[in-house]
Amino acid sequence: MPPEPRLLPVELVIFGAVGDLTWRKLVPALYNLFLDGLMPEKFAIFGMDAKSISTEEWHKRLLDGVNKFSRRGRAKAEPWKEFASHLVKCLAGDFSQPANFYSLAKALNAQDKDWDEHAERVFYLATPPGIAETIVHNLGASRLVSDRKRTRLVFEKPFGHDLDSARTLTHNLLKTLEEAQIYRIDHYLGKETVQNILAFRFANALFEPIWDRRYIDHVQITVAEQVGVGHRGGYYDHSGALRDMIQNHLLQILSLVTMEPPAAFNADEIRARKVDVLRAIRPIPTDHLHQYASRGQYGPGWIEGERAIGYRSEPDVDPASNTETYAALKLFIDNWRWQDIPFYLRTGKRLPQKVSQAIIQFRPVPHQSFPASANQDWLPNLLEIDIQPDEGIGLHFQAKIPGVDLRLSSQQMRFSYSAAFNTTLTEAYETLLLDAMRGDATLFMRADQVESAWGVIAPVLDAWTAVAPSDFPNYPSGTWGPPSAETLIAQDGRRWLQPVYLELPKPGGEYDPSVSRP
Ligand code: BG6
Repeated sequence: MPPEPRLLPVELVIFGAVGDLTWRKLVPALYNLFLDGLMPEKFAIFGMDAKSISTEEWHKRLLDGVNKFSRRGRAKAEPWKEFASHLVKCLAGDFSQPANFYSLAKALNAQDKDWDEHAERVFYLATPPGIAETIVHNLGASRLVSDRKRTRLVFEKPFGHDLDSARTLTHNLLKTLEEAQIYRIDHYLGKETVQNILAFRFANALFEPIWDRRYIDHVQITVAEQVGVGHRGGYYDHSGALRDMIQNHLLQILSLVTMEPPAAFNADEIRARKVDVLRAIRPIPTDHLHQYASRGQYGPGWIEGERAIGYRSEPDVDPASNTETYAALKLFIDNWRWQDIPFYLRTGKRLPQKVSQAIIQFRPVPHQSFPASANQDWLPNLLEIDIQPDEGIGLHFQAKIPGVDLRLSSQQMRFSYSAAFNTTLTEAYETLLLDAMRGDATLFMRADQVESAWGVIAPVLDAWTAVAPSDFPNYPSGTWGPPSAETLIAQDGRRWLQPVYLELPKPGGEYDPSVSRP
């Protein structure tokens, strides 16, 4: 295959250049792109931050971030020195002052002049959400985004706080920008394993014919975290699990699992097919909400032998907080493919394991011809799409246990990224930053996607806001969530499938058939 053409010259401006996201994620990702030879030949990174910092100090801080968080570990002196020569400077400035944007424009124009080219410009808002509109307004006033083709803005979530605020935000942004210039990040879409859902479904003919209500019993999507809110209490206490995770990451996974095949792999087509699904989600009935939604908040408990404090004792959290740190939903998609098939979604902090996965549970065989004695360990087929941390796909099926008796047990065929490709996976931010520089919006959220996703959770948000929970905290740290989440799925005669991974055979090693999902 011919190599990808090099990118056009790029000027990347990071607002919030001294902040946590730039330190932990953005610069380590840019550095890895640089090491992989994927950055444009000409690129210049500028920062702007309310804090004043010298170029030298800025470089020092960013190097520290790379050393701590890069998937490649500590940076080597020579390549870092070369990369750092592209980190031009961090302008100190209050984002509400138009004068600071004129200074920025001057610096970027000087860079263009230096290169004798009009570079592409990517503005990255690594800032608290409240300031985004002001920044965009000032970018507009200083004519920094008036070239519609060559300038783009990358937005971090949250994009709004609910449906109305998301609509208002889009409306206000469109006074300055065109929709095609707005790149809304959902970092889950940059994960290799999430992108692989499309490859798995649409590059293989095997599963698509059975990927519907005739063969699938239900789908479970779990994004479980062991961590608590940590230092993000101030933000999280005004958000909660439904807004922070379900509105974006889990609904995006759901869309990829359930969307129709796109006619072509381009940004608009793929995003349109995903919106079709979100729009087809049946409105959650609020009169029987407990049958469709469960909320929880972690109390004190134990995680892997370590004592964990309860949510209400976390820094910057209201000691009487009613914010949910766990949410589960049951959804239906009203279309031909999925009519009446339940989709169970759950996410929470301080759960026993960090795991993100989608499980497709197929229907049982129509007639069970094996004697009951053969089926002690019987489980209908299921497909497990493991997003993290053990990236891969597992297909569970029945097999005959060796021996003279006819006995069946559930076994798994497994594809593992690390074993198959023998490489560390690129970080989501690497993919997303590269796409933003290339001008490929496929993995970014369009306004209609964001609004449809807010629409899905709106009835639950309203109902939960109207009636305070009476039982918070209702799950100890280190457990799988509140009892109401068990009831939510048990009322349908089903149960949550707790993640268990196979011990994978090491290359050349032996496969251990005794390890399988219970
Ligand atoms: C973020 C949420 O979007 O995703 C965090 O705001 C959460 O609360 C994080 O911890 C989880 O991301 P990942 O990639 O670690 O699964």
